[in-house]
Amino acid sequence: MNLFAEIKSYVGFQQLDADRLLRLQPVVEPHFEDVVNEFYDRLMAHPRARGVFVGPEQIERLRQSLQDWLRSVFGGVYDQQYFKTRQRIGRVHVEVGLMPHFMFGAMNLIRNQFVEILLDIEEESVREALEEKDAPGQAVQSVDRILDIELTIMVQSYWNVLMKQKLEIPAALATGLAHEVRNPLNSIGLQMTLLERKLRGAEVDSDVYEPVLEAVQIELQRIQGLNSEILDFAKPVDIEVAPADLNELFEEIQRAHQLTLDAGGVDMEIETSGEIRLECDRDRLTQVFINLLTNAVEAMPEGGTITVKIDGRESGVVVEFIDDGQGMSPALKYQIFDLFYTTKAGGTGIGLAIARKIVEAHQGSLDVMSRPGEGTTFTVFLPRPH
Ligand code: HEM
Repeated sequence: MNLFAEIKSYVGFQQLDADRLLRLQPVVEPHFEDVVNEFYDRLMAHPRARGVFVGPEQIERLRQSLQDWLRSVFGGVYDQQYFKTRQRIGRVHVEVGLMPHFMFGAMNLIRNQFVEILLDIEEESVREALEEKDAPGQAVQSVDRILDIELTIMVQSYWNVLMKQKLEIPAALATGLAHEVRNPLNSIGLQMTLLERKLRGAEVDSDVYEPVLEAVQIELQRIQGLNSEILDFAKPVDIEVAPADLNELFEEIQRAHQLTLDAGGVDMEIETSGEIRLECDRDRLTQVFINLLTNAVEAMPEGGTITVKIDGRESGVVVEFIDDGQGMSPALKYQIFDLFYTTKAGGTGIGLAIARKIVEAHQGSLDVMSRPGEGTTFTVFLPRPH
């Protein structure tokens, strides 16, 4: 289910509401100007809300924008285009620095005005505009639902910015640092090689220096490895697509990892809906799938079963990795895709973040569903290119 469909279903918005709002439009439209005027008068009366606006011309322009907005609220068409426009309007408010809590009061202002309008207008005229079977109370319900949708999308805009920054800020900091340390690290490596050569040339017992040099080299390589992983992560993922057989791909992965699976006492079962071919970057996706598989094995320290379900649909391919391990708390689920978040000793916390980036480069999505004690399911959706 896409996000807009999910929001609609959550607030209980149905086609019935869409039809009703459209039929109400001629009844409520004559009141739009008053609604808008009241809206801005109230906002301007509040010092902090007023502070978001830059001047009277802007407010004049916004009065028109809000009337257009109201017209589309009662426009009867609530499709993906509607959702996109609303998301854009939401972003405008984040960008002007409006704090999210203002949205609740503002939407309530609009809501209350429509409740009053619908109650004030003679019951008969509302009933006429609606179908015989609809009572005026149901009109209010439909207005409530569409405004709930509007409010949800507004709040969602703040969430989206937060989520984006949650990923982008650590990535930007880490990349900056990785660039800074790359040259000094290489220089240390070079100096170490020179030192080793000099020591070998001198009459020094190798037992004295070799263990030290070796320890330093190992640590250096570890930091250099991490550094290049970070720099790799910062690069855009370039994908090269070609037709691939996903069943074959999973059989190959299973063969290549059979020893690891056996060692962990894990059975891997592949369930497929039939022959599945997809235009994708086979190598990059293999990296994603191996990462998810390894995670699943690690989530089951006592062993268990991993089921990989591959489902070819018209819109794309869904691959689920289902383990029967310990599951995750909601707080953990919220963090696992974060860069550098790891619960494993020696883990870098880059694997899942890069897996998601690769899937998104295919215009797809990578999500997780999990409950403590009930195992975890990672779902990869890869759309078919149009
Ligand atoms: C129910 C709540 C609200 C709705 C439906 C709404 C609607 C809109 C719309 C349709 C736009 C035009 C966006 C565009 O096409 O570029 C807009 C912009 C804006 N809104 Fe709101 N708004 C709401 C709440 C608020 C509140 C509470 C404030 C301030 C306290 C506010 C301040 C602004 C500002 C500053 C802009 C940017 C204007 C510009 O581009 O110069 N809005 N709003």
